[in-house]
Amino acid sequence: MSDQLVFEPSEAAVACTYATKAQYEAMYARSVNEPDAFWAEQAKRIDWIKPFTKVKNTSFAYPDVSIKWFEDGVLNIAANCIDRHLATRGDQTAIIWEGDNPGNQEIITYNQLHEKVCRFANVLKANGVKKGDRVTIYMPMIPAASYAMLACARIGAVHSVVFGGFSPDALGGRINDCQSRVVITADEGRRGGKCVPLKANVDQALKNGAQADTVLVVKNTGNSVEMEAGRDVWYHDAAAGVDADCPPEPMNAEDPLFVLYTSGSTGKPKGVLHTTGGYLVWASLTHQYAFDYQDGEVYWCTADVGWVTGHTYIVYGPLANGATTVMFEGIPSFPDCGRFWEVVDKHKVNIFYTAPTAIRALMGAGSQWVDKADLSSLRLIGSVGEPINPEAWLWYNKHVGRERCTVIDTWWQTETGGILISPLPGAVAAKPGSATLPFFGIQPVVLSPEGVEQTETKAEGVLAIKDSWPGQARTIWGDHERFVSTYFETYKGLYFTGDGCRRDADGYYWITGRVDDVLNISGHRLGTAEIESALVGHPKVSEAAVVGYPHDIKGQGIYCYVTLMEGESYDDTLKTELRNWVRKEIGPIATPDLIQWAPGLPKTRSGKIMRRILRKVAENEFGSLGDTSTLADPAVVENLIENRQNRP
Ligand code: WT7
Repeated sequence: MSDQLVFEPSEAAVACTYATKAQYEAMYARSVNEPDAFWAEQAKRIDWIKPFTKVKNTSFAYPDVSIKWFEDGVLNIAANCIDRHLATRGDQTAIIWEGDNPGNQEIITYNQLHEKVCRFANVLKANGVKKGDRVTIYMPMIPAASYAMLACARIGAVHSVVFGGFSPDALGGRINDCQSRVVITADEGRRGGKCVPLKANVDQALKNGAQADTVLVVKNTGNSVEMEAGRDVWYHDAAAGVDADCPPEPMNAEDPLFVLYTSGSTGKPKGVLHTTGGYLVWASLTHQYAFDYQDGEVYWCTADVGWVTGHTYIVYGPLANGATTVMFEGIPSFPDCGRFWEVVDKHKVNIFYTAPTAIRALMGAGSQWVDKADLSSLRLIGSVGEPINPEAWLWYNKHVGRERCTVIDTWWQTETGGILISPLPGAVAAKPGSATLPFFGIQPVVLSPEGVEQTETKAEGVLAIKDSWPGQARTIWGDHERFVSTYFETYKGLYFTGDGCRRDADGYYWITGRVDDVLNISGHRLGTAEIESALVGHPKVSEAAVVGYPHDIKGQGIYCYVTLMEGESYDDTLKTELRNWVRKEIGPIATPDLIQWAPGLPKTRSGKIMRRILRKVAENEFGSLGDTSTLADPAVVENLIENRQNRP
């Protein structure tokens, strides 16, 4: 191997793997050479009400992109995640819920999960929700959030989970975009010892123009909230009057399962749509193989169900596999920086999956927190959401994995439904910082920026994928054209990921980050356009340009250049006001890290902002600005450099 740091699969990893090196290679070859046969076999892991006769019917040809898998098959996802396990593991724990407050926990068996989800489904029906209707879920990380998701899946409603950290306006935009008439929320959420006013945020969203007829409110903290008669319904009142059983709705493999909003490089967040059959096959297969999940193991993914990681690897993948999945309401630093490790020891977690930003933050807090934990239950630790720097990888391996666990770095996206590039634990040697090799069916392509496929093994450029896989998003809700233009127009015939990457001499992929105007802040995606639009919405702001810059903990930080209206004064109080403004408009994750007053922005003569220059200044690398000869007013740059905010 070419890179010096290589971690071969341990004997223990090979002993319990579903795929040794030879098996991985054989399965991979078959998956790309005979996709129909391969996927027909793999899809047997799912219970089909009516088996499919067609496997793959997909085309990436611009502009007629069309993606269908198992298209005449019929199934129900909730039945696959719950009912089919009842005969063999009804009393097994399905969900271990660990509260924000260390004293709070709940164990939910598969039998109990069945009843909870059925009741929830019947409450939805009683409130008029029908197959195909959209339901927005704005919930804290409590078991009811997963009941709500599975209840939608059970009756064929399409859920749209909105992360509880988003503002009322961000929520309202998402409710309206997919025309949800029902919103499911809780009185409040808890995070890091603080209460999050979820119900009040829903009220605000609806007051500001979001359209919904019914708000179902789950009692969580018990603090009082306003209830509007005729619109708001306490979940516990409604649940008392419904049946404890609800038959699962037969769904076509290509019926929508969920919409999940994610940021793009332009415009409003887009509602990525995933469907039923292919998504479940992908969620379940990747969960089994990437983690080598063994029956009876306790598996913990620390994400929030508001993100795709929570959908696929807290709820659908693990439950489809009959796993025990941990759901954590809190944050890594509450009540102290030892919390993750206490939870691992308390519930004897075997597989742990988190984000590089959390790893870096805990690394920064000092190793003493993790070193005092036992952690002997751990077998595999994973990372997802952003590039993991080798230093953080090595710390994770040493202090959490104790140099005995398998470490996997998994690359994927909201649009991909599940993991696409990741080492299989018993097959592929790890290299810190590399997501390594593709999963079954995935053919990565490295392109030059001009779109020429790099055929040498060693290559650098942008990352695209050659052919469809079952878990892929099918469209953008209500805007198929945007789906086609975002992912299939730039490089014809390929799915464009938006990421840059390098492939080393061993064929390993090293994701270098977004090549578009999408930021990755602590593993969360934000469009620079969204933040700019929030900023210019402030009455004193005339123009704004937002770029990312390297941030030790968050991966990227948010750097804003702001031009004020004539006559406004550039002062620090206004910076604070703008910071709070963006928080209120989008949510705390979008809070600007640095704001630079920019009386002028670097523009070409045709008025286009030269973001390349703004990025360089934000990165504190203004010595290499490149060609600035097309600037309308070169003096602007001098001023920007002089007033730069990111000084080490
Ligand atoms: C973007 C997708 C994957 C689910 C959570 C984020 C970045 C994700 C990795 C990784 C390097 C990564 C990419 C990607 N990303 N995982 N292991 N190494 N980069 O999903 O919000 O849709 O963001 O996150 O830039 O495009 P998302």
